[in-house]
Amino acid sequence: MADGETKAPPCAECGSSEHVLDACPLRAMIERDARLRREREERRGAERPLAPVGRDLAAVIEATAAMATASDEDIHRMEVRLRRQERNERLLASGVAEPGPLRDEDRRMLLDETFDPNKHAMRVVRGWLARATDTVTPDRNMLVLCGERGTGKTLAAAWAIAQMGGRYVTLEEYLRDYARWQRDRSREDGGKAELSRYDASGLLVIDELRGDLSRDDLDDWLAKLERPAWHRIVDRRQSRRRQLTIALTNAKKGEVEPPSGFLGALVDGTYDGRTYDRMRRDAYVIGIEGKSMRGGAL
Ligand SMILES: Nc1ncnc2c1ncn2[C@@H]1O[C@H](COP(=O)(O)OP(=O)(O)O)[C@@H](O)[C@H]1O
Ligand SMILES: [Mg+2]
Repeated sequence: MADGETKAPPCAECGSSEHVLDACPLRAMIERDARLRREREERRGAERPLAPVGRDLAAVIEATAAMATASDEDIHRMEVRLRRQERNERLLASGVAEPGPLRDEDRRMLLDETFDPNKHAMRVVRGWLARATDTVTPDRNMLVLCGERGTGKTLAAAWAIAQMGGRYVTLEEYLRDYARWQRDRSREDGGKAELSRYDASGLLVIDELRGDLSRDDLDDWLAKLERPAWHRIVDRRQSRRRQLTIALTNAKKGEVEPPSGFLGALVDGTYDGRTYDRMRRDAYVIGIEGKSMRGGAL
């Protein structure tokens, strides 16, 4: 700037006397940001599926007319598709499908409803679920199915999970979680996470209860937890009427009767008297008949 010239007033945006307001780089940046924001908002307005009433009502009315042309079959197909998706998600989330025992073919059978609804186990579970979920006079909220391998117990329980969602766990897994819970009980959160997912579930399926307690197919230290763990399941869940529990055991029919097997163990106190009392009031114990439906050797 030459000597003697009067200095321009400082820039009104940034206070610099080196440039005038129109040449201010800060001002240019602020204006560009504002422009970009406006453009973004306009674009977002254009993407809105339905124009706000008053601005483009005609488009809304046109879209409504198009919806009404969907046929009953279209709507029915969609309903079937959504129900199938829901059932699939429930099965996958419960733990009964991968890595659980439900094979892909069996899951498909449940989704397509191509299973045999009259197999004993399936009939029992369907009938019980209908009664146990009755909103006026709900029936007993625990079902114990006893029966040989391959009689469709797990599939029937998975059907119930597909209907209403729930959690699937084997006794052994449950005992491991129970052991972890006991170990962590003194911690701040009480190690609750391990067991709360079972406590909170609207339907709990607990599979592979031991038919014959004399067989040592569980590690000793886990077997010792069976009594308190089973008591906890029965106690926690039976006090909440709306929570349903299905327990499955491969005990043969003879083993179901006292004095041996699961029921025998209940009666003679292996599972403790309070557990037995609660179950007498709140559970049905049913022997499933029929030959194994599993193909090939097991
Ligand atoms: N209701 C049914 N309809 C058709 N097939 C069935 C039915 N129930 C069971 N099965 C067949 O029998 C097999 C064994 O059933 P599963 O539920 O695993 O028996 P369990 O749990 O009693 O050992 C299944 O993999 C399935 O293929
Ligand atoms: Mg099974």
